[in-house]
Amino acid sequence: MSRNQIGLCDSEPVASNSQQTLTDRSILLKCFEKKKLLIIIISVIIVVLVVTIPTVIIKTKTTNTIKLSTEPRDTATEEFTTTTTDNPSTEVQTKPKYKKWKQHGITIAGGNGQGNQSNQLSSPHGIYIDDNTSILIADRDNKRIVEWKSNSIIGQIIKVGSAGDGLDPLYMPFEVTVDKQKNAIIICDVGIKRVIRWFRENQTNSENLAAGILCGGVTIDQNGSIYSSVWNNHMVVRWKGGDKDAIVVAGGFGQGDDLNQLEKPSFVFVDKDHSIYVSDTGNQRIMKWKKGAKQGIVVAGGNGYGNNFNQLFEPYGVVVDNLGQIFIADCSNHRIMRWREGDTEGSVVVGGNGQGDDPNQLYRPTDLSFDIEGHLYVADTDNHRIQKYELYIE
Ligand SMILES: *[C@@H]1O[C@H](CO)[C@@H](O)[C@H](O)[C@H]1NC(C)=O
Ligand SMILES: *[C@@H]1O[C@H](CO)[C@@H](O)[C@H](O)[C@H]1NC(C)=O
Ligand SMILES: *[C@@H]1O[C@H](CO)[C@@H](O)[C@H](O)[C@H]1NC(C)=O
Ligand SMILES: *[C@@H]1O[C@H](CO)[C@@H](O)[C@H](O)[C@H]1NC(C)=O
Repeated sequence: MSRNQIGLCDSEPVASNSQQTLTDRSILLKCFEKKKLLIIIISVIIVVLVVTIPTVIIKTKTTNTIKLSTEPRDTATEEFTTTTTDNPSTEVQTKPKYKKWKQHGITIAGGNGQGNQSNQLSSPHGIYIDDNTSILIADRDNKRIVEWKSNSIIGQIIKVGSAGDGLDPLYMPFEVTVDKQKNAIIICDVGIKRVIRWFRENQTNSENLAAGILCGGVTIDQNGSIYSSVWNNHMVVRWKGGDKDAIVVAGGFGQGDDLNQLEKPSFVFVDKDHSIYVSDTGNQRIMKWKKGAKQGIVVAGGNGYGNNFNQLFEPYGVVVDNLGQIFIADCSNHRIMRWREGDTEGSVVVGGNGQGDDPNQLYRPTDLSFDIEGHLYVADTDNHRIQKYELYIE
């Protein structure tokens, strides 16, 4: 308001016309009075600002603190430290400790654009991390399995399907896992509908475990039994060690969303109790089938597709830790989610900041894994890179 008037006031007396001297003088006088008034107004404003600004800052800080302290409410509680307060009338308080991962990922494989050079990946779809923190990558669109040693800038191609092992070349490897006992790699190859076991030391023995299966994910339990989802038959099958024939262990009642059904299942995880967790991709949910169960239970999602905390949108990779927390590659939401059995909604672990290639973003992640130290790795598929998120305990 005043700025413009001051400007006008300053320029007016410059008028050169002599007839206007008197008017000029009165204008000057008016200007003087106006300036005096303005100085008073400005002083008042300054005083008001000086008094109010710190109050506002203090208030904002208080609200921030409140927000921060309530923020981890829906993240999973790992351990509880019990503290007794001085006041005997207040209840014993439990202060939760949180397992968290840094929100900015570090690219540890690929990230050099889509391509087939040794420092590149092309839609990495499934990952496995061994005890030496080497990563096996189902480098899907490059039709190859790559082993990326810790701190290496390039990956090494594992020669699956090369002359000598009796296998046809890979076509569209979706998922890779390791059979430690047999020092073998198990691969889910959607392109030629098969699950193969490739022995590192003994490649001529490589097996085609399942021909004709449109496998969406594969895993192995401590007993050496192999589990594969069957994407087009809406079930999960298992081969017990040494068995030639598989049996159905989840789904198998046609396509649908009843508790005994699945729809386009993909990644599979088996825990110590031999419970099967399957990413029921077409139903936007994760199902858990206890050993021998006739139907599953919904442990994540199942509320249609969407990006609310109680929803998933094309879930793929699923990993369950020893505390029963379920980690999910929520592909089309570009985020990794964590649920616990019984939760009505999950929480974002990393990503969830829109589709993109910034360090805190993901672009259609399809798989995740943890190393022995608990750091999180994500196959950031459409960014053609593998991201690592460091663990820290709050
Ligand atoms: C790698 O990509 C280039 C360019 O697309 C292609 O010409 C070449 O054949 C590819 N090499 C292999 C081994 O796939
Ligand atoms: C880890 O590295 C050591 C030493 O290079 C090697 O002997 C061992 O077989 C490796 N383990 C795995 C799981 O690759
Ligand atoms: C190679 O495969 C054969 C046949 O399955 C098996 O008898 C032998 O023990 C294997 N050797 C190694 C080193 O794994
Ligand atoms: C797995 O092996 C253990 C012993 O190693 C055995 O007690 C258990 O019954 C086996 N479980 C299955 C599902 O085969």
